[in-house]
Amino acid sequence: MMHSTLILCALSTLVLGFLPNVFATVAEEDVPAVVQNMRDINKGFRTLRRQIDDTDQKDENLKLIAQIRADLVAASKEEPLKTPELPASERDAFLKGYRQLMDSVLAEMDKLKAAVSAGNNAEAKSLLRQINELKKQGHGKYQKEE
Ligand code: HEM
Repeated sequence: MMHSTLILCALSTLVLGFLPNVFATVAEEDVPAVVQNMRDINKGFRTLRRQIDDTDQKDENLKLIAQIRADLVAASKEEPLKTPELPASERDAFLKGYRQLMDSVLAEMDKLKAAVSAGNNAEAKSLLRQINELKKQGHGKYQKEE
């Protein structure tokens, strides 16, 4: 009796110990690079928006902007998931449009960096709104419908 309780305990510890790993595996599903880049960009902006008014976080905010910028550059080197579904004759123009819009976002990121460096929060917030508009535009044209 004592034995089986011990074995049961050991087994459940083992199973419970592995459970988080199982969930982690599901969470880190193998997503395409462009999707992962977008998730990183999204996370970066969420943090940035939360602390953009905090002048104590200026260095941290500039780091976030540099990181988001790098993720945007990485995303622009990838292709939207719906590219292969388009007629071959349309793909070049589609990718060109995608990369041009990404370049517009990058140009706004550079203005954002300048605004944060100068401590101009009102300007920084207005640029964040502007970037959000470009995001909506980008998703409308380039994101695959679920
Ligand atoms: C700048 C702010 C942006 C943010 C915060 C953002 C955020 C996101 C998020 C959260 C996703 C969903 C990821 C998932 O499925 O888990 C996504 C997907 C995507 N976004 Fe963005 N995005 C931004 C800008 C853009 C722009 C400007 C474009 C196009 C020029 C774009 C194109 C796409 C594409 C193509 C996908 C999904 C993959 C696909 O369907 O091909 N995004 N984005």
